[in-house]
Amino acid sequence: MEDNRIKDLGLLVLAAGMGTRMKSALPKVLHRIAGRPLVGHVLKTAEAVRPAAAGVVVGHGAELVAEELGKAAEWGVKLAPEVLRQHELSGSGRAAFEALPFIKKFQEVIVLCGDAPLLRAETLSALLEQFRKSGASSTVLTACVPDPHGYGRIVKNKAGEVERIVEQSEADASIAAITEINSGMYVFKAAALAAALPQLKQKGPKKEYYLTDVLELIRSAGGKVTAHLAADYREILGINSRVQLAEAAAILRERILLKLMDSGVTVLDPATAYIDDTVAIGQDTVIQPSVSISGATVIGKNCVIGPNCFLNDAVLGDDTVVKFGSRIDGASAEPGCEIGPMAHLRPGAKLKDGAKVGNFSEVKKSVIGSHSKVNHLSYIGDATVGERVNIGAGTITCNYDGVKKHPTVLGDRVFVGSNVNLVAPVTVGAGAVIAAGSTITDDIPEGTLAIARERQVIKRLKQKA
Ligand code: UD1
Ligand code: CA
Repeated sequence: MEDNRIKDLGLLVLAAGMGTRMKSALPKVLHRIAGRPLVGHVLKTAEAVRPAAAGVVVGHGAELVAEELGKAAEWGVKLAPEVLRQHELSGSGRAAFEALPFIKKFQEVIVLCGDAPLLRAETLSALLEQFRKSGASSTVLTACVPDPHGYGRIVKNKAGEVERIVEQSEADASIAAITEINSGMYVFKAAALAAALPQLKQKGPKKEYYLTDVLELIRSAGGKVTAHLAADYREILGINSRVQLAEAAAILRERILLKLMDSGVTVLDPATAYIDDTVAIGQDTVIQPSVSISGATVIGKNCVIGPNCFLNDAVLGDDTVVKFGSRIDGASAEPGCEIGPMAHLRPGAKLKDGAKVGNFSEVKKSVIGSHSKVNHLSYIGDATVGERVNIGAGTITCNYDGVKKHPTVLGDRVFVGSNVNLVAPVTVGAGAVIAAGSTITDDIPEGTLAIARERQVIKRLKQKA
């Protein structure tokens, strides 16, 4: 796809594990934080080192994971992942073994875990660089953690090279005291990994094949194994429970907000701004408190997103103001629009430049023309509204007859009085005026006045006896 990929570098993501502690019907790696499933973050991060291909090993919930991986582009991941089935679910070593046909296509292979979404691209680049500089057959990403219990411990020789990794179940007291642990992320010379994998033996309480055992095998075949220590141990944390999922979400959220602020976005209250990693926001835009911005949302420069707004898959041009309490989902606005307070733009709503949709108005699958206004209490659905149209308070497009949706077309400069019902299908010609309170069932020619309501009558009240 992209020619700046490194042809001989492959990425293998292990994601076949069960994730029992999540207590979920959803496979662990599909739990979402910051706009992507866990495995999506891993793929996105790894993209930075430009592997030629990514293979994801799936097992538990394989069909669901495979299906989701097909949507990688939606999470902003360009690399289309290859799904590799692990048939015998017996450990990380088995996962890599069953992926041998993929591994053998490359000279270098990065191995990452699908449930560890906090790794940063900078750290992965540094790992790869150290691997290449050291001439090692494998470099392990390690970390010093406050509580190493449960992790594989890194055993080094006097030269500082990695001799082996000892899993918790096999660690005696002196090994258990080691605080440098295995992140479960590695770079390998593919040939060395491929030679070692078939030699793995099942072991441990669950009779599993440990990927960590390949390191000793690589050493006994004459290869060197080095460690690269991550500066911040939080980057290697894997997600095993809902609590850890929330912790990881908080870490990613902080990173996203820092990056936005560094790029010139004002975030008035980072404690209440929830912005996905998939969102793009232009310079000098101001994000006011209590907002949620998700999906493929793109916000231009100099915009204001008011308090308590919810934006998902929204595209907003420069200088657009979204006022208090508005919801925009699958909708777009060209530059200089004003939305809200309390407006609801639903999928397919398109505001042309300078349009306004305000107080308690809802717009669905409709175009609101340039400088047109829908400012109060309206429902506009399946409509095409021209330029400089004024839609009075309480106007409703009656677009649904109980079976089908029908279109409403309003020409340029139409003036719709307050509390008008437009019974679709209906077309109103340019410059027409509709009197307040009308229920319009027939087309209105250009430049005419339509009044469709009962005349007012005045009757004398009966005098009380
Ligand atoms: C593993 C490492 C351990 C390290 C820790 C870091 C081994 C033997 N141990 O332990 O040294 O400190 O990660 O978190 O690898 N997987 C499969 N198929 C399987 C089993 C696992 O694809 O049959 C995948 C999992 O989805 C996961 C990765 O391999 O992404 C690691 O497996 P996991 O069971 O989490 O290993 P740990 O016991 O955590
Ligand atoms: Ca794990």
